[in-house]
Amino acid sequence: MSAPLIVLVGPMGVGKSTVGQLLAERLGTGYRDTDEDIVTAQGRAIAEIFVDEGEAAFRTLEKEAVRTALAEHEGVLALGGGAILDADTRALLAGQRVVYLSMDVEEAVKRTGLNAARPLLAVNPRKQWRELMEARRHLYEDVATAVVATDGRTPEEVTQAALEAVELKEA
Ligand code: S3P
Repeated sequence: MSAPLIVLVGPMGVGKSTVGQLLAERLGTGYRDTDEDIVTAQGRAIAEIFVDEGEAAFRTLEKEAVRTALAEHEGVLALGGGAILDADTRALLAGQRVVYLSMDVEEAVKRTGLNAARPLLAVNPRKQWRELMEARRHLYEDVATAVVATDGRTPEEVTQAALEAVELKEA
């Protein structure tokens, strides 16, 4: 079975798609994003899926999208911020090269702000961030083979740090 070169995990707004695309360029490979796969397959925005069907239904779609992408994609794969909530997904990530892009809460609130496209942060983003990260930090750490802090770094610097952390040769 093929496997992605790198899987990126971490909270929303941490820069998974920006860094993922830069990593893919540097490694001469393709970029894929499970949020985008879901939007394409469903023909709706993620916020709409949350509103229409609720978070549980979204998580079911997400779990399937991650399983498929892990089996199909050989390049850089970014997972939605909550994908690691699922125990089966975490089990699938064991043995993969997983980079956790981290950031502190203040940075997170600054970067994501009141973003309607991010339904989990619609009300009181700072408090919601704290709760989200308290619930998830250890899950990100559990699945990660490398942790790369993004605070105060440009996407290019984060990309460089991620390449060094996983010791992959560039194309
Ligand atoms: C979510 C993160 C989002 C998206 C959905 C839920 C989360 O993805 O999957 O809004 O639970 O953290 P990004 O991390 O790509 O923004």
